[in-house]
Amino acid sequence: MQVQPKYSPLSRSWFYPDGRSARPTPAGTIAIDEVNLDPALDTGSVDGKFVTTFPINVDSALLARGQNRYNIYCTPCHGANGYGRGMIALRGFQQPANLNGERIRNAPPGYIYQVIGNGYGAMAAFNYQLKSTRDRWAIVSYIRALELSHGAKLNDLSEAERTKLEAQR
Ligand code: HEC
Repeated sequence: MQVQPKYSPLSRSWFYPDGRSARPTPAGTIAIDEVNLDPALDTGSVDGKFVTTFPINVDSALLARGQNRYNIYCTPCHGANGYGRGMIALRGFQQPANLNGERIRNAPPGYIYQVIGNGYGAMAAFNYQLKSTRDRWAIVSYIRALELSHGAKLNDLSEAERTKLEAQR
């Protein structure tokens, strides 16, 4: 079993005229994960610009999925509320950006999507753990909800909610 009639990676071939065992991919070959690649959905940017709207329908199911994935993959560092005081940060890892802060709040959804897939500075990429584009967008939508919940103005509330809140003061 040790010696088999096979090519080791990049070993020489006497069979092919160009002497290479590694065959070039036929013209027009498309990688399986490039089939129907939708730039907005799959990369978060179109023509080199981050998308400013969600390329996926945002509904309560997506938000719930996002909350579930965020709590698993992001809270260890970013904390459940996004302020960056997760357990790993508290134990000495670099303090992550505050997701409720001005800069991230103003960042387009495509930017946050791209950070999940590619990583950012000290933060590793999550392209392996979070393979599904839907899951990544779900997390982005949940971060938008987090930001909203921490930066809501009194006027964003309905009349009834405002009255209820003011009664508690
Ligand atoms: C192991 C810790 C860790 C985990 C887990 C983690 N992050 Fe981060 N994240 C960081 C650190 C540290 C930074 C700041 C990196 C730097 O500035 O070099 C950061 C930065 C960011 C930023 C800000 C980028 C910017 O422009 O400043 C975003 C957005 C972000 N993370 C999103 C996420 C999301 C979404 C998840 C979950 C899928 C996640 N992170 C999981 C540590 C983590």
